[in-house]
Amino acid sequence: MQSRDHWEKVYTTKAADAVSWFQPHAHVSLELIKATGAAHDAAIIDVGGGASTLVDDLLANGYTDLTVLDLSAAALAAARSRLGARAADVKWIAADITRADLPANRYDIWHDRAVFHFLTAAEERAAYVQAVFRAVKPGGHVIVASFAEDGPEQCSGLPVMRYRADQLHDEFGAAFTLLRHQKEAHHTPSGTVQQFVYCCCRRMGC
Ligand SMILES: C[S@@+](CC[C@H](N)C(=O)[O-])C[C@H]1O[C@@H](n2cnc3c(N)ncnc32)[C@H](O)[C@@H]1O
Repeated sequence: MQSRDHWEKVYTTKAADAVSWFQPHAHVSLELIKATGAAHDAAIIDVGGGASTLVDDLLANGYTDLTVLDLSAAALAAARSRLGARAADVKWIAADITRADLPANRYDIWHDRAVFHFLTAAEERAAYVQAVFRAVKPGGHVIVASFAEDGPEQCSGLPVMRYRADQLHDEFGAAFTLLRHQKEAHHTPSGTVQQFVYCCCRRMGC
């Protein structure tokens, strides 16, 4: 099954709050975004945001330039439906991040929770990092959360990469300074615990 078909099937057969990665609130992500000190009109993209509630909380916290990108149109539709009229204040992009044609130097903050870890081929990871280089402003922040070294070996039935913070930072290279990292024990709706690692890096050059 192609990746897009996999994710469309997930989001059309399961409730958004029943998937293993569901969080009522993306507390760690929100705190890391706030900790960048970005202004409320900073351009923020949630890559592979799916039906995440992060966009709800960013709107509630006064951020005004928000984009959610995901491979699954069904995931984006679920988020839009939940937001109702507020969905009009968000840009929605249905695309594969390894092929997306994002605007150059557009974003102050790139956020990704549980997407980069699906890229098991080196060429996919290289394409992702190229997209970061193209779309994130020099001086911008890149927040990426993946399964940690002691996290699960699969997510949504697909194989994943697992990282320590230094390994995750290494994927992006010396042009990114690792500002902070932290682990999170994520409690899934079915009651299991998954270890995540979050890295917040700053793109040098400004
Ligand atoms: C495990 S879910 C995480 C969703 C969301 N970030 C969260 O924390 O709730 C992974 C998401 O990545 C999306 N995805 C997977 N591969 C992708 C790709 N190559 N480009 C864009 N989105 C992708 C899926 O559709 C799915 O919504």
